[in-house]
Amino acid sequence: MAVSQIILAAGQGSRMQSDLPKVLHLLAGVPLVTHALRAGRALAPERVVVVVGHGSAQVARVVVAEDESAQIAHQPEQKGTAHAVLQARAALEGQAGDVIVLYGDTPFIRPETLEQMQAARAAHDIVVLGFDAADPGRYGRLVTDGDALERIVEFKDATAEERAITLCNSGVICADRALMFDLIDAVGNDNAAGEYYLTDIIGLARARGLSAGVVRCAEAETLGINTRAELAQAEAAFQARARAEALENGVTLSAPDTVIFAQDTALGRDCVVEPYVVFGPGVTVESGATVRAFSHLEGAHVSQGAVVGPYARLRPGAELAEDVRIGNFVEVKAAQIDAGAKVNHLSYVGDAHVGAGANLGAGTVTCNYDGVFKHHTEIGAGAFIGSSTMLVAPVRVGAEALTGSGSVITQDVPDGALALGRGRQETKPGLGKRLMDRLRAAKISGKKD
Ligand code: UD1
Ligand code: CA
Repeated sequence: MAVSQIILAAGQGSRMQSDLPKVLHLLAGVPLVTHALRAGRALAPERVVVVVGHGSAQVARVVVAEDESAQIAHQPEQKGTAHAVLQARAALEGQAGDVIVLYGDTPFIRPETLEQMQAARAAHDIVVLGFDAADPGRYGRLVTDGDALERIVEFKDATAEERAITLCNSGVICADRALMFDLIDAVGNDNAAGEYYLTDIIGLARARGLSAGVVRCAEAETLGINTRAELAQAEAAFQARARAEALENGVTLSAPDTVIFAQDTALGRDCVVEPYVVFGPGVTVESGATVRAFSHLEGAHVSQGAVVGPYARLRPGAELAEDVRIGNFVEVKAAQIDAGAKVNHLSYVGDAHVGAGANLGAGTVTCNYDGVFKHHTEIGAGAFIGSSTMLVAPVRVGAEALTGSGSVITQDVPDGALALGRGRQETKPGLGKRLMDRLRAAKISGKKD
C-alpha cells in the first residue's frame, strides 16, 4: 500500500540550551532529523513532508540535502502534535494510501519496526507504536482492552490509575491519509496543556467504531532527545551498538571503545581498524582493507587491500582503489586514487585523479585553490612525483612521467617526461665554514648575541 511520511520537527528544543534547532544536533555524525528521514525510507514513501518551525530555513536545508523531493510545511506556532500534522495536509492533498507520522527528535526507530506497523494496518484502521517503559515518566499511556487500543491519555491528563500503565506511546502512528486528517479536524485543545494532541485521534476513531492496534518495540528504539545529556546518552548507546555490530560482522577492532562510527559506516568483513579511528558520515571500507590508528575518514570509499594511516585524513570524495597506500599526515579530498598508487607521507591530494601505481613522494601538494576557484590535477599511471612537488592546478603530469624533488609544476608534463621546476643549485666552496666562523667570532666579541 502506498504510504507518505510526515516528520514533526517544529519543536523548539529549548532544553538543549542551543541556538541550533534541536533536530539539527548531530547523532552518529548525522542530524537527528536525517535519522528520521532514513528510517522512513524503508517504506519507500511516495511523499515525505517535514513540518518545521523553529529555525525552519536551516532545518529545511538539511532535509532537502538528504532528500531533495521532501516537502517542507511550516508550523510557525507550536500548538501541539495534531496541529503540526495538519500543516502537512496541503502537501498531501489527494495522495492515496496511508500516512505515517514520525518525530524528528526520535532517531532510533528501526526500519523493520515501521514495516511491522505497515503490516499491522491490514488488521487495524490506526496503528500506534508502543513500548513497555521501565520508567513510564511523562509519556502518553496506551489504554487497551485486550488487543484493542481504546485511547491514549497524556501524562498531564491521566488519572493515578492511568499513570500506573507502563505501555507507552512512542509517537509513531500510521493510518489512512484521508482518515487521519478527518480525525484531526475533530481534535480540540481542551486539555491540561491547551494543545491539539495527535493522540486524541485514537479515542475519536474508536467512537466511530474504527479499530486501533499497537505494535510494540524495544524502549531503546523510541528514545527521544530533549537535552544534551540525552543526546550524549543516545550517542553512547549508538556507538556501543555499532561497535558490537562491526565485531559481529567480522571486523577486527583492537580497541573497540576508541573507534567512533557514523550512522552509515559500512565496514566489510576482515577489515582491520586500529585504535582511535573516527568515521564521519558516508564511509565505506571494503573487505580486507586496513585503517590504521588515529585516522579520520568522511565521505570516503576504501577498496580491498588498501591501507590508510596511521594519522591519515580522508575527506568527502576520497575514492581509493584496491591496494592503495595512504600514509601518515596525508589528506585526500575529492580525489580518485587508482589501484596500487602510493601517497605515503605528508601530502595533500585534492581535486585530483592519480593513476594506477603512481608514487607521490613526501610533501606532494596539489595546489588546487586559487583563492576563488578549485582546479583539477591529473597524474598519470605509473608517474613518480618527487618529494615536495607543488602541482599548481589545473595541471597534468603524464603517465610514467617524473617530477624532480622540490619542483613547482605549473605546466603540463607529457607522458614519460622529466620535469624540473626549481632553482638551480649553486655551491660556493668553503663559504659555509667561513660564514659560521665569522658569526661565532661576532658572538664572542659581544657585538651580537
Ligand atoms: C508526545 C506524545 C506522547 C508520547 C511522546 C513520546 C502527543 C500529544 N503526545 O509527547 O503521547 O508518549 O510524544 O515521545 O502527541 N511538535 C511539533 N509541533 C508541535 C508540537 C510538537 O512539530 O506543535 C513535534 C516536536 O518537535 C517533537 C514531536 O512533535 O518532535 C513531539 O512533541 P513533544 O512536544 O515533544 O511531545 P511530548 O509531550 O513528548
Ligand atoms: Ca518529546
